[in-house]
Amino acid sequence: MSLLTAKSAQVAPIQLIIDTDPGADDVVALLLAMASPDELNILAITTVAGNVRLGKTSRNACLAREWGGREDIPVYAGASRPLLRAPVYAADIHGEEGVPGVAVYEPRLGLAAGGAVQYLIDMLGNAESRSITVAMLGPQTNLALALIQAPEIARGIKDVVVMGGTHFNGGNITPVAEFNVFADPEAAEVVLSSGVKLTYLPLDVTHKVLTSEARLQQLAAVGNAASARVVDILDAYVTADMARYGLPGGPVHDASMIAYLLKPELFSGRQIHMQVDSREGPTYGQTIADWHDALGQPANVMWINSADAQGFFDLLSTRLGRLA
Ligand code: BDR
Ligand code: CA
Repeated sequence: MSLLTAKSAQVAPIQLIIDTDPGADDVVALLLAMASPDELNILAITTVAGNVRLGKTSRNACLAREWGGREDIPVYAGASRPLLRAPVYAADIHGEEGVPGVAVYEPRLGLAAGGAVQYLIDMLGNAESRSITVAMLGPQTNLALALIQAPEIARGIKDVVVMGGTHFNGGNITPVAEFNVFADPEAAEVVLSSGVKLTYLPLDVTHKVLTSEARLQQLAAVGNAASARVVDILDAYVTADMARYGLPGGPVHDASMIAYLLKPELFSGRQIHMQVDSREGPTYGQTIADWHDALGQPANVMWINSADAQGFFDLLSTRLGRLA
């Protein structure tokens, strides 16, 4: 292959904003993303209240950035509560500090000046048309607020990739709802109705990408500080889900979504019509995925429902090996 052909064959990195509520699996996702600079140019990390309160999710995002050796990435704090509903947290799964299994402390570097919502408005508003991907690892409050205040910023968005929702799997916070959507269904509806290109990685797929003793050993065998930290976090994190759902291993939801950006060929799904239920009652926060096109409505999301689980753990271990 000539140098010219080799160069043109290189794919430009995804221009990426990661919106997150760390969160055990969020930290693993951030480390995986930071270990992959050839594919992902992380413009900023924006934080939101979710698994724990905003102060802790923001601190944990700064810690993850420090652990990934990427203090050049700005972290902006965003919404401290959902659009309309009362806040709901998940300390029972992620621990009181939001990251179980490891010591948390005051990060060396703090937050960037200005808020996440204004950052999204400025960055997406001034971006070239359809140039930026937004990875949503928590409740979608920040992007919803930005779209409400400045709907024209949708033009700057190439893709919105959401870890959230569930249909065939059942819920993890109510019988039918997944945590990130349940924690702010109205925000999910705003993003859904904005017309941006959307991909959902629901529990339908993340509950198929499970840890096992062998996979945790595979990660530990990487033998650096990053992999040791991930194993400590996962050891503490997966037990709650395994016990609650009778699973043989635990899902690493948000990291699966970063893996989708890095290697979409590990995943499959299809374009479908999806609705978020925000009516009060037992179905609040449910995502209704019209997999068999019963409603005959236009497709509005790419719904991912299967993955190569071992491929995910191979990718995670290889990439963690690139960190210190
Ligand atoms: C999602 O909810 C959070 O608890 C996890 O971080 C993940 O983003 C899974 O339902
Ligand atoms: Ca999360």
